[in-house]
Amino acid sequence: MNVLLIGSGGREHALAWKIAASPMLTRLFAAPGNPGIAREAECVALDSADHRAVLSFCREKVIDLVVVGPEAPLVAGFADALREGGVRVFGPSAAAARLEGSKGFTKDLCARYGIPTAAYGRFGDPAAARAYVEKAGAPIVVKADGLAAGKGVTVAMSSREAIEAIDACFEGSFGAAGAEVVVEEYLDGEEASFFCLCDGATALPFGTAQDHKRVGEGDTGPNTGGMGAYSPAPAMTPELVGRTMREIIEPTMRGMAEMGAPFSGVLYAGLMLTADGPKLIEYNVRFGDPECQVLMPRLKDDILVLMRAAADGQLGHMSVRWRDEAALTVVLAAKGYPASPEKGAPISGINAAEAEGATVFHAGTAERDGQLVAAGGRVLNVTALGRTVAEARRRAYAAVDGIGFPGGFCRRDIGWRAIEKERLPT
Ligand code: AMP
Ligand code: GLY
Repeated sequence: MNVLLIGSGGREHALAWKIAASPMLTRLFAAPGNPGIAREAECVALDSADHRAVLSFCREKVIDLVVVGPEAPLVAGFADALREGGVRVFGPSAAAARLEGSKGFTKDLCARYGIPTAAYGRFGDPAAARAYVEKAGAPIVVKADGLAAGKGVTVAMSSREAIEAIDACFEGSFGAAGAEVVVEEYLDGEEASFFCLCDGATALPFGTAQDHKRVGEGDTGPNTGGMGAYSPAPAMTPELVGRTMREIIEPTMRGMAEMGAPFSGVLYAGLMLTADGPKLIEYNVRFGDPECQVLMPRLKDDILVLMRAAADGQLGHMSVRWRDEAALTVVLAAKGYPASPEKGAPISGINAAEAEGATVFHAGTAERDGQLVAAGGRVLNVTALGRTVAEARRRAYAAVDGIGFPGGFCRRDIGWRAIEKERLPT
């Protein structure tokens, strides 16, 4: 198969690495890719916003499958344009991508199908949103409706903070994404990421992971795209996976199909494991970043077989097998991330880190005059397997310590929740 992968982050490097291991692969292209992806794929300067250019590339290179990493092209109708042009795509239509593109859409779907989630209100003007906050009280959560690059959510500990967040949304802090606001009940519990591969009708459970969203150790400081992850998430017991499938995923798949927007691709449920059971925080319509970097090393099966089956409506015949080991990834970020990451620091020691047994996925890197340099906020994902999360963590940090990256930093406590559980007597 000839495959075109869209994206340029650590998630896409992990996908490229796994796709490149498939015996079914003939040629792998990535647009635009990054220096790590370039080890696995031929990187091409194609703009995914230019649907016609991508279609003609697919015809010229006889592409059998397009794999879309990030959400923005999906929400913008990239998969629809390719399908209309007769190209097979792994990723949802724009109508199905509303599950991530509009928080209000997803909340209404939950209300209609009885899917457990936080109680909420949707507001198009600040006065009504403020009145809701005053009535409900704090803690309370304020969300810009649309895509805000992970920055549109405020978990407010006081009504004042919530009202400031509402005003910021309507004053345009998140652009068009904040023209509508969702205000919702604060949920207490442990968070987990749960993934399914979907083909429009069938949802196949595809692993669990836990992310670390805050920049600082002990889950402190501002939110980021994710500073590290591990898989599986021990908090997601088989019983909770079963409940999540029955109470959250399956009604969503049914609802989307009934609405004429059947979901295919990756459905990523952000869950809060509350005392009343799993509740949906949000959906994403793509793999998590950095969660993908811990799923791919654990996957035994051929990802291309699974993605093609998802695109062809054939997942009902498939199963997924995982290695017994845990995987853990540590994000190395540039100085100043997340507010204002510094670019240009030289990076060295990746080969030595990999010789330690880790895999280093590139996120924001670039090559200048033959030197690898930092070119984004999250720069590298140092990933290792182990019999336990604690062992995977030891291996990952041993590799991290061999990497030269002036000003670069990481959290030293990735995996702490799972490691605490591993220490408990069973
Ligand atoms: P999101 O961008 O929707 O993933 O939200 C970012 C983070 O905000 C989540 O990972 C949670 O930690 C937190 N969050 C979102 N909604 C709620 C909620 N209803 N209750 C508590 N925390 C929440
Ligand atoms: N790691 C969180 C996300 O990908 O949305």
